[in-house]
This record gives sequence, structure tokens and C-alpha cells, in this order.
Amino acid sequence: MNEDFKSLVVYQIYPRSYCDSNGDGIGDINGIRSKLHHLVDLGIDVIWLSPVYASPNDDNGYDISDYVSINPEYGTMEDMELLIKEAASLNIRIIMDLVMNHTSNQHEWFKKSIEGIEPYTDYYIWKDGNGSKLPNNWTSFFSGPAWEFNETRGQYFLHLFSKKMPDLNFANQLVVDEFKAITKFWLDKGIFGFRCDVVNLISKTSFNNGKFDISCVGKEHFVTQTGCHLILQELQRDVFEHYNAFIVGETVLTTTSMAKDLCEKEKELDMIFSFEHMETDQVNNKWFKTKFKSEKFFNTLTKWQEGINWNANYLENHDQPRAISRFANDNTYHYYSATMLNTLLFTLRGTPYLYQGEEIGMTNCAFKDMSEIRDNESIDIYALATKLKFPKQMRWKLITKTSRDNARTPMQWDNSHNAGFSENIPWLKVNPNYEDINVEDDKLKRNSVYEYTKSLINLRKTNNILIDGTFTRLKTVPHVFGYTRTYNGATFIILLNFSASTYKLKIAYSDIVLSNYHKKTFTKLDAYEAIIFRK
Ligand code: GLC
Ligand code: CA
Repeated sequence: MNEDFKSLVVYQIYPRSYCDSNGDGIGDINGIRSKLHHLVDLGIDVIWLSPVYASPNDDNGYDISDYVSINPEYGTMEDMELLIKEAASLNIRIIMDLVMNHTSNQHEWFKKSIEGIEPYTDYYIWKDGNGSKLPNNWTSFFSGPAWEFNETRGQYFLHLFSKKMPDLNFANQLVVDEFKAITKFWLDKGIFGFRCDVVNLISKTSFNNGKFDISCVGKEHFVTQTGCHLILQELQRDVFEHYNAFIVGETVLTTTSMAKDLCEKEKELDMIFSFEHMETDQVNNKWFKTKFKSEKFFNTLTKWQEGINWNANYLENHDQPRAISRFANDNTYHYYSATMLNTLLFTLRGTPYLYQGEEIGMTNCAFKDMSEIRDNESIDIYALATKLKFPKQMRWKLITKTSRDNARTPMQWDNSHNAGFSENIPWLKVNPNYEDINVEDDKLKRNSVYEYTKSLINLRKTNNILIDGTFTRLKTVPHVFGYTRTYNGATFIILLNFSASTYKLKIAYSDIVLSNYHKKTFTKLDAYEAIIFRK
């Protein structure tokens, strides 16, 4: 990885929910342009922009129908070029989301593939049925079988996600070449790099039945296969390297050893998003949330900190419920919880990815019923749970806890109508707590999540310890995560309280660098406290 990338702070924007500039209830590119000053003030270096390409929106843009045009709901190519240019003038670079595993079923390639029009016939993964049965027993990450029959073609196609998102066939060199052209197109426009969606699934080695697995049947045939490494190396060699592009991979079901293979051997990815720490409040499968187990969470984070050279650190994104509602307290201790979690994010070794709203501690949303849910994954899951005759209350609990819409509610800018996101009815409900939690009001509070987060970013920028320092976990009391970061003989000691209890701790250090309680001296660790000492 390029050493210069190490100091960068990344901020994820989910365009549909960020800022609506033209009053149609949908966030857009010009809305983002109008908020660049917010990102400059916070100290952001890189924006990761979730998809803005043409898309019928089955999965809000992760189903792409044309990779080189902009979804008119979000604006025009000219708006996008202006965004890139204006951001660059403010020293902010943009990485785009690159979805390679699948396209929309409305993509021209798929339409032609169905018809058997060359050269598109083998752009997707088509198989005959196995007698009267599906080609194999693989399951989709969005629930149900991973195969769908197409009448016109008379064959099944593979979809590891929604039925409207057929998987591309990367065994076909023409498909690889398409992505070389697409990535080159955007890099030539001044894009800094890509966040590669579920990128470790792109190569399928064989199509045999998979072993039984509660969350994903078939994974041994398509998770991080040799073919995936080869394709990534080829993209680096033929495109990315020539632009010194920043490439972060979203990789599902990865282990630290897979991460090393992807980031530390050949030039493939600069860093990866792993999921293991997101699985510490669930049993077996993401649909079944259990009580958050802080020790499991700390152990997992430690395993990844120690296991690989450089992490892509995140606690939130557009696929996960809000961290403060899962791992801390989004109510009585809102400010302390939000700042404590942000301290974790910015003091771990690796690149911090802040998700929109995390700078003010946005929380999960109290949705009333399914009519308020827009997330296609939640809709699929609810339908399956209904089919399986889960009681209504249980189905709804499943959705409220897990729905990706929790993180997708409109950004809360101020306490005016619709939280200042739009003048019209937003595409997804605004979280009713916007009157208390919003950027404008937060900044004015003595206990401001925004200002604290800004100081964290500043601390990172003015201190090599948080960038180059090694990570060592400290022994502490339960529910308290403690670790040091050391560089060139200088050390930061970080203590984070993941509970509402108070702990009397004897600390040998008195030099407080940052405290979410504004402490000048330390006698005890308070509820959801975060404190950084210098040795
Ligand atoms: C990734 C995206 C998610 C999307 C899925 C399929 O996990 O982050 O939003 O639904 O891939 O593209
Ligand atoms: Ca709009």
C-alpha cells in the first residue's frame, strides 16, 4: 500500500440520503456539492460515494444498469464532474463504489445475454436445471435459492444477491475487459479509486452443491478463490497501478489469512472491510441479533489489529444498523456513547471510515411497520419469515433490529422540517429524533459529538502515533477496552468504557490528551467514557 494513503480519513456518503438539492425527496449530487464545506470543516480527505450510476434501484444503486452514466435522480455527468473538481479544489478526493459481482437485470448486457446475442451470451452464469431441480443448492445472501429460471433463455441464472441482480461471469475475459474500460473511464475523470463491492465473490470455481451453512450455502466454491486474486492482479497491472488508485475491497466471510492474501502478497487491494466484528451481537446468522457481547467484540477487534498489517476500520455503513444503538447506549448516554465509539474508530490502527451521521451519533430509527421499510433485503427477509410462519411480532422484531434502513434514514442537518434534508417528503422516513440530534444544534452544545469527532480527526492528523503506531491490548476490567499505540518511543493509552458502570481504576499516567468528559484529572472511569493518555 502507498504510505501516503495511511493518513487518510474517509467519509462514506449514501447519496440518496445525504442532501436533496431540488426538492424531489431524494438526495443528489448537487446536494453533496452544497455540503462539501461540512466535510472540509470536519477534516475529511476522501469521500466514498455509494453508487450514483444509472440503476432501476432494486437495491438503491447496487444494481447498476449502466456503469458510465449517472442516475438522473442524482443529477447529470456534468454535476458529477463538478463534484470531482470542487472536491479536488478542497483537497478532497472521491472513491466510487464499483459493483463487479453482478449488474442489474436491466443492464443491456443481461438483456442481450437472455436473447443469446453475441458477445453477451456468456457474460452471466447460466446453467441448466439438474433434472427438475435447481442447478445446485447455493443460497442467496438476501435469502432463498441463488438461482432463478429465465423463460426466454430456458436456463437458470445465478444471483448471489437479489433476483434482479444476476452475477457476472468473470471466467469470461470479455467481462474482465469491460471492467478495465469502466474503471479507466472514471479514473480519467479524476476519481481517486474504488470501493469494490463484495469483490471476493467474483470468481466461482465450480458449481457443485455446497456444504450446509446457516448463513451461506456454497461459499467454498466462490469466496476468495484463486481466480479472484488473478483478476484483481490483472486490474492492478492494467489499470489501477497506472493511476496510483486507492482500492478498498468489501470482502465477505473473510478471515485474517484471506485478508493477508488479498492485501499483503501481490498487489491486489490496499485494504479490506471485514465483517467479523459486526457479528458480535448475533447468533450464527445476521438475522438473529442477540445481546451485544463486549468481550467478543474486543477480542475480534484485537484479532484483526494483530493479525494483519493495516485494517479498514468501520463501525457503520449503509448495510449495518447504527453502531450506537447496537454497541452502546443511544438514549441516556447518547453523547458519551457516540464519542466513545468514535474514539475507537479513530484510534485503532488502520484507515478510519466514518459513515454519514456518525459524526453526530445518529441512531436506529423507530419504524412503525413494513409500510415504512424500503430496504429490499428486509422486504425479502420479511416475506421469507412470513412463509415460514414466524409470528408477526417476531418478524417485525427481526426487521427493526436488522434493517439496513436504520442507517439509511435522511441525514439530520438541522431541526427544521425534514431535518433540513429536503423540502419535500423524503424517500425514506426521517428519524423522529432529528429535533434533538442534528448537525446544527449539535455543534452548539458543550457536549458536542461533532466537535469531539473533529478533535479526534485533528489528533490523528497532528500525531503519527495514531497512524504508524503499533497496537497492544491492555488487561482491563470487563466491558472496558484498553490498548496502547506506540511509535518512536511515544505512547498513547486508550481506555473505552462500553458500559454505564463506573470503574475506579489506578492509572499511572496523568497527561490527558482527549477525554469525552472534558477531564483534566482522572480518578475513575465514568459511564461510556473514552479517555486518551500520553506516556
Ligand atoms: C454490498 C453492498 C450492499 C449491497 C450488496 C450487493 O454488500 O454494500 O449494499 O446490497 O453488496 O451489491
Ligand atoms: Ca433530489
